[in-house]
Amino acid sequence: MPYKLVVQGGAELNGRVTISGAKNAALPMMAAAILAKGRTVLRNVPDLSDVRLMCEILDGLGCETSFENGVVIIDVVDETPVAAPYELVSEMRASFCVLGSLLGRRKRAEVAMPGGCVLGVRPVDLHIKGFKALGAEVEVDAGNVRASGDKMRGAHIFLGGSMGPSVTGTCNVLTAATLTPGVTIIEEAACEPEVQHLVDMLIAMGAKIQGGGTPRLVVEGVKALKAVDCDVPPDRIEAGTFIVAAAMTRGDVVLDNVCVEHLGCVIDRFSKIGIEFEREGQTSLRVRGPEQLEAMDLTTLPYPGFPTDMQAQSMAMLSMAKGISFVCDKVYPDRFMHIPEFNRMGANIRKEGNIAIIHGADYLSGCPVKATDLRAGAGLVLAGLVARGKTEVLAVNYIDRGYDRIEEKLKGLGANIERVELIPRRRRTDFTPSGRLKAA
Ligand code: EPU
Repeated sequence: MPYKLVVQGGAELNGRVTISGAKNAALPMMAAAILAKGRTVLRNVPDLSDVRLMCEILDGLGCETSFENGVVIIDVVDETPVAAPYELVSEMRASFCVLGSLLGRRKRAEVAMPGGCVLGVRPVDLHIKGFKALGAEVEVDAGNVRASGDKMRGAHIFLGGSMGPSVTGTCNVLTAATLTPGVTIIEEAACEPEVQHLVDMLIAMGAKIQGGGTPRLVVEGVKALKAVDCDVPPDRIEAGTFIVAAAMTRGDVVLDNVCVEHLGCVIDRFSKIGIEFEREGQTSLRVRGPEQLEAMDLTTLPYPGFPTDMQAQSMAMLSMAKGISFVCDKVYPDRFMHIPEFNRMGANIRKEGNIAIIHGADYLSGCPVKATDLRAGAGLVLAGLVARGKTEVLAVNYIDRGYDRIEEKLKGLGANIERVELIPRRRRTDFTPSGRLKAA
């Protein structure tokens, strides 16, 4: 059912919010379940449409999956299927992560090429380069990547590309290497915490991996892995989104279930514009917004740099900051589709190449806007929290891909936000030839 989020701006956010498990950790962890026969249990899994879609993909690959109360169970009962079709893969790029697990365990895989998306071209050449370096035979034909891995051997692989390392590329090649005989060294591996979480899970399954969280992963192939029961760690991007929500509304919010270390760069940059942070114990972080946010310059980079997945939310915040901000995206140079939507709300943002120049506006005005991707959608909700009047955010399906009950969590902090069902648009066939509405 299509929905919109209706936000009445002006409420200051206060209170506590619990951060959910990380989407971008959960998805490759789910794909890794294919590496072992039997029942993998993942806990603290966020309730997202992407997680449900990954369950569907795994069901098609011989698994029996269930998802209830934050627990995903993946029981690998049939190890013969090897194909993930375009209808499902095209819905979610992360589903390409099943390729590494299939190749590692079943030595065959046929996965549709994911294609581009709203963030830009998004190739998969590095994934393929890694599999080929391991000795897999890979061919791209009729929109599918077909790979066979009977002759795979450990190898020394440089996995970086012109845009730096690849997060899911590293996950994919790493999972394949765990069951590949010999030693594999992956240089220029992505250092994102989500890769580290996958490494932790693989080690618990019996894999031999050194260097998790560094650009050099050393994997000694083992004969078999066992199914495990483990937790998905907290989502650093959801946490960052709530930091912005607190800051923009001059609020005072405590985030529970966060990994503060993984927010290092975000905390460092945001401290400079007046946002106050105070750690509470091991897993909580208090955030207080200033009276007036200051402008700043931001460049997104691979971890531990500032995350591209926080770019749109930061732009929402800087559109109200005092002065001129420059935001450069070095991970996805075209990830700026949200600029016209912010400008509809009264922001003053201009794009020059991969740099957005933001002149802080005195105020934003609520109006109907459309999410162009998941993080852009979150950014528009954040803008709505401070805009004068009512903001209606359409294309909520994007937001539901990556935020577990965003409106309930914001409401819990005092935001005035509702999820409203959209009335289906009338179609031509709803009318009689003379233009009257047909009786129901
Ligand atoms: N790239 C290549 N060749 C490849 C792979 C990537 O040139 O074979 C380029 C990309 O075009 C991009 C850069 O390398 O310019 C980094 O892409 P990466 O492969 O790291 O992205 P990803 O693994 O497809 C994950 C997250 C994204 C997040 C990026 C960057 C998941 C499921 N997705 O994507 O998350 O933006 O890393 O950190 O982990 C989101 O959650 O909203 C989201 C888009």
